[in-house]
Amino acid sequence: MKKILICLPGNEILQNNISKILNIPIGNVDFHTFPDEETCIRLLFDCQNAEIIIIASLDKPNEKIIPLILLAQTCRDLGAKRIGLVTPYLAYMRQDKRFQDGQGVSAGYFAKLISPFFDWLLCVSPHLHRIKNLNEIYTIPTFVLQATLEIANWIKLNVHHPLLIGPDSESEQWVESIAKLANSPCIVLEKTRHGDKDVSIQMPDFKQWHSAIPIIVDDIISSGQTLLTLAKQLVQAHFPPPICIGVHGLFAENAYTQLQALGCEVITTNSIQHPSNKIDLSTLIAMQLKSIQVD
Ligand code: R5P
Repeated sequence: MKKILICLPGNEILQNNISKILNIPIGNVDFHTFPDEETCIRLLFDCQNAEIIIIASLDKPNEKIIPLILLAQTCRDLGAKRIGLVTPYLAYMRQDKRFQDGQGVSAGYFAKLISPFFDWLLCVSPHLHRIKNLNEIYTIPTFVLQATLEIANWIKLNVHHPLLIGPDSESEQWVESIAKLANSPCIVLEKTRHGDKDVSIQMPDFKQWHSAIPIIVDDIISSGQTLLTLAKQLVQAHFPPPICIGVHGLFAENAYTQLQALGCEVITTNSIQHPSNKIDLSTLIAMQLKSIQVD
């Protein structure tokens, strides 16, 4: 079956890289916004009998989900045989339980919302915490990639004598694997979240690592408060401003500039296009795409 790559606006770098690596053609799409802000999709290629691979990172998901569903349905309607979704950043994974009375568990609702439009889904380092496997909530085949090797390689190339720090217990899963690959020590801290922009982190005694370069590694940088809080505490403990590595740089409001103002070097993967992107995921995603067989 012929394959065609398409993307939502903002995903062109990954789309173009993957197209080159796998020699898959790109299909152009016109996203027209009517004066009333409704979207009209027009495919500028023939998708008859093709497998369509849509690349769409779902940061700012509320504004992207309708265009994404319209795009997938347009492809289906015009004869696509199979439609896969590559969503390097998969949204709505953090509300994985009812934290307060009366709340919904959005992770499951979101999965139910998008599953019917796609034949498979591929994502990178989704926030799996209380949900251990995407198949618990998605009804289509899912493929999960981890950016651990790419991050470890960046650290090995760029930092001499690092100390990897996971800011909370959830980070243990990726920080420990990255530390192993980068051959570096690591510690995982305890974080308490009091609100969207209010966290506290318990600092152990760091003295034995005083000559190391601290690198905080987290999956998501959203408000930036997790990294900012820990970075300030490290500076108070006489460490240099840490390097902050996030797989997914969402950077709500002025999170990026606040981290930079503190002297932190901020590094992200290109799961979401941003000036901090220094770690490329194209090959990781392309290699997985090569082997996806779904009937
Ligand atoms: C949460 O558990 C995640 O792993 C991240 O630590 C969190 O999403 C970061 O959010 P923020 O940047 O708003 O502190």
